[in-house]
Amino acid sequence: MAFAKKKLFIKTWGCQMNVYDSQKIADVLIPMGYEQVDTPDDADMLVLNTCHIREKATEKVFSDLGRMRPHKTRREEQGKKTVIAVAGCVAQAEGDVILDRAPYVDLVFGPQVYHQLPQMVAKVTGEDKNRVVNTDFPVESKFDYLPEEHESPGPSAFVAVQEGCDKFCTFCVVPYTRGSEFSRPVQSILDEAKRLVETGSQEIFLLGQNVNGYHGTGPNGKEWTLADVIKSLADIDGLSRIRYTTSHPCDMQDDLINAHGEIDKLMPYLHLPIQSGSNKILKAMNRKHTHEEYREIIAKLRAVRPDISLSSDIIVGFPGETDEDFEDTMSIVRDVVYGSCYSFKYSARPGTPAAIMKNQVLEKDKDSRLARLQSLITDQQSTYNKSFIGQTLPVLFDRKGRDEGQLIGRSPYMQSVHVKGNERLFGQMVNVKIKRATASSLSGEIDIID
Ligand code: SAH
Ligand code: SF4
Ligand code: F3S
Repeated sequence: MAFAKKKLFIKTWGCQMNVYDSQKIADVLIPMGYEQVDTPDDADMLVLNTCHIREKATEKVFSDLGRMRPHKTRREEQGKKTVIAVAGCVAQAEGDVILDRAPYVDLVFGPQVYHQLPQMVAKVTGEDKNRVVNTDFPVESKFDYLPEEHESPGPSAFVAVQEGCDKFCTFCVVPYTRGSEFSRPVQSILDEAKRLVETGSQEIFLLGQNVNGYHGTGPNGKEWTLADVIKSLADIDGLSRIRYTTSHPCDMQDDLINAHGEIDKLMPYLHLPIQSGSNKILKAMNRKHTHEEYREIIAKLRAVRPDISLSSDIIVGFPGETDEDFEDTMSIVRDVVYGSCYSFKYSARPGTPAAIMKNQVLEKDKDSRLARLQSLITDQQSTYNKSFIGQTLPVLFDRKGRDEGQLIGRSPYMQSVHVKGNERLFGQMVNVKIKRATASSLSGEIDIID
């Protein structure tokens, strides 16, 4: 008789790196007899893969954790062991605090140790019922120990190429939660990408907290840049699209900029956060560049790839930000014209230099600035998306819509494109004639060619 598989539920917050990590956590646990399920009901192991970037993200984790408690109590009354694990950046930052605050949590582990999950799970499920906190930054790299992918992630796949951050922007927790910058060796990236393409992925999304700072050892022993990796990936037959995120303006070197003009498979989209349009604030943020330097990079990118769609992150209400500084932010957004842009109210994070700066901005000022910025961004995105009406775009369908017969994919410019179409088109690249557009997506009809 086959043993019933144990049910594993993973909930993920935060960036694409965390989504990738969740897939890898599943890859480690599945060979231990787990199967992944979509709901927490009746799960034997619950993993909350958390994000620490802003206060709200962290609060949500603790309220979710509270909801897990009755689930565990109910199951344990039925004699069923239930493991609750907290992973990711809150785990890294809060460690023991989580065990104290949530006595029903069994396991807390940071982003660099999930290859050690077999040992950790054995400890917490053993007779002694140990609780485990592991927030080490081990000398070995988890990438050398992770098993191969258990199942294809689908038409579009993430590949981590770089992790961690040495930039220490004064508002940001990432250098503390993810540790210092580390680039994976080229060969292991190429091997993973080839495996993904063989199992059906057509698009590879290269991930890193500072992905364009990549500097790994190439198969020839020489140091490779991200542009070198992209060129090599472009040679893989069956791979149609390459993307990368997130980039820092200071690491936007000419070879990478030029790659956008030279490599067809490199998609015409770049997420390049500016954070603020004021040089005074950029300096206080320790971004190490001016808005003029940023504008220069954009000009170079548009010279080699005129249709490139640009995207950004912006923080409003960083300590010391005046109305004038905020107007500089509005100006840069107006001038660059983004295809998409994410905006956030500054959130003071424990342990970061900006959190103890004296000149914190009032919440009501943050609110009004955010509202003004978001209205500008919405108008910009809407105008940008509407400019595609009437065009035909190649769309890679990678999601199914909520409604029956609805498919969703991405345009080369990263826009979500909705169509009505046969399910068999899932995973395919199809031409879509764009009929309608909103600030957040496009919709259209499948273009029937002969
Ligand atoms: N490595 C990326 C950003 C990672 S964090 C980069 O350098 O651009 C994603 C975004 O969250 C950041 O770009 C920033 O806009 C936002 N963010 C980070 N810390 C924040 C904080 N304390 N308050 C508000 N937004 C923050
Ligand atoms: Fe955070 Fe700055 Fe590093 Fe980006 S570059 S992860 S914002 S410290
Ligand atoms: Fe959040 Fe950690 Fe990513 S703090 S944004 S999950 S690197």
